[in-house]
Amino acid sequence: MTELGYKRKLRADDPYTDAAYLEGRYDEPVAIERLFAEAPAGFAIEVEIGGGRGNFAFERLAFDPEVRLLGLEIRKKWATIVDRKLRALGLGGRGRCYAEDARIALPRLQPSGRVRAVFLSFPDPWWKKRHEKRLVLGEGVQAEIERLLMPGGELFVQTDVEHRFEQYKAFLDTRAALAPKGDLPGDPRLAENPYGARSPREKRALADGLPIYRLRYEKRA
Ligand SMILES: C[S@@+](CC[C@H](N)C(=O)[O-])C[C@H]1O[C@@H](n2cnc3c(N)ncnc32)[C@H](O)[C@@H]1O
Repeated sequence: MTELGYKRKLRADDPYTDAAYLEGRYDEPVAIERLFAEAPAGFAIEVEIGGGRGNFAFERLAFDPEVRLLGLEIRKKWATIVDRKLRALGLGGRGRCYAEDARIALPRLQPSGRVRAVFLSFPDPWWKKRHEKRLVLGEGVQAEIERLLMPGGELFVQTDVEHRFEQYKAFLDTRAALAPKGDLPGDPRLAENPYGARSPREKRALADGLPIYRLRYEKRA
């Protein structure tokens, strides 16, 4: 364990030494608004968990100039490449991707009720029973998502694994803090992605003609 509380790989030939991490110890609060250099009053903050190669972030920021997007990606390689690309695209003031485990980073973010939307695209693609303990979308992360969302704030989840979709829906339908916000009243299912941005896996699934299962909920007032 490092002084930050968890292991970070340090190698002499590490090509990702410029990886971005949230400042401070793993148990210290982080003011979410301070993560963005260009921050007019009342700006919208959105969070993407596990963005992988990052396409969703680039397209989301281009689609809505009001948005500030915080990415949390556990794989240092992808977090670093995405964070570099955000800067190269001139979007570094509005979008950041930190090499962080969402399970550790989300509880640090403050204040509660500041986030307009949380996106999870194609998380947890494994299906074996022994992989259940690795699920990102479990009680701990979900409680933090609900804490961070503002009233009316949205949680968007999409997957191409039908079993995972059923599992997420059954889980999220029980959450007292959430109300379904899909295409039909009282139902969280969405046929399309309404955020003007595609994740890498979403693009591939569309190109391959695979079904994509989408869910949207909003935080109750
Ligand atoms: C199947 S990939 C999907 C990537 C991208 N969202 C897409 O749709 O193409 C799942 C991603 O979640 C990331 N991930 C898994 N567990 C995570 C965690 N605890 N915190 C942050 N990211 C995580 C993985 O590293 C991976 O990039």
